[in-house]
Amino acid sequence: MQSSDHQLGIDVGGTGMKAAIVNTFTGQFVTEKYKMGTPEPKDPEAISGAIKQLMDHFEWQGPIGCGFPAIIRRGKTASAANINRAWLNFPAEEYISERVGQQCFLVNDADAAGIAEMAFGQGRGVDGTVILLTLGTGIGSGIFVDGKLVPNTEMGHLKWHNFEIAEHHVSNRARERHDLDWRTWGTALNEYLEHINFLFSPAMIILGGGVSKKFDLYEEYLTVDTVLKRASLMNNAGITGAAMHARTCLGH
Ligand code: BGC
Repeated sequence: MQSSDHQLGIDVGGTGMKAAIVNTFTGQFVTEKYKMGTPEPKDPEAISGAIKQLMDHFEWQGPIGCGFPAIIRRGKTASAANINRAWLNFPAEEYISERVGQQCFLVNDADAAGIAEMAFGQGRGVDGTVILLTLGTGIGSGIFVDGKLVPNTEMGHLKWHNFEIAEHHVSNRARERHDLDWRTWGTALNEYLEHINFLFSPAMIILGGGVSKKFDLYEEYLTVDTVLKRASLMNNAGITGAAMHARTCLGH
């Protein structure tokens, strides 16, 4: 049975997609998490089909919240760094909703993760500027000022050593692709965090994404002078935040 506390949250990543039904008032999953690989090509048709498969898995009939790895402006996807370029300036909410037969509410994936961490995780009750960074296929960012989201910040795209973008060097995928040991990667991550710390003077930086599970392996290289935390919801935050976003859009 579906209650208005319960929403299906879907996290579309550059590599994998995952979903669960979430109690949006407690942040608890009311089902097991279900995962699948992001289909190739990662175009609107294939991703919408995969979203429908996730909905069918949960026999979900109702609106859905969906975290997406792109800038989301007025229901359109306005960037396409780690997905197919067909998403550039594409009316994604309308398209997906039509394909899956339910209203789909999109939110940037890192904003979604931040929404959940601020409500139920490390950011709870923290005033001032809190920055959540997700280290995955790319680097996503969610910035909160006194608990309020500044949406669609793209700090993975900060310039890195003047010629490249940071996510090509500091994301978890960059670590894997360049076969970096934890010390080399951790030191680069620290340099990146120091730059962000200099730009924003945040009260706290929270590190999320799948690699937050291995925090112990690189924590010693992170000497940046701010309060640095591992996301307590780890990489479930994106699902929870997507579900919370749907609730907010529905006005519940
Ligand atoms: C995208 C962001 C996204 C991040 C994490 C970046 O490449 O530009 O919108 O939040 O990856 O998925």
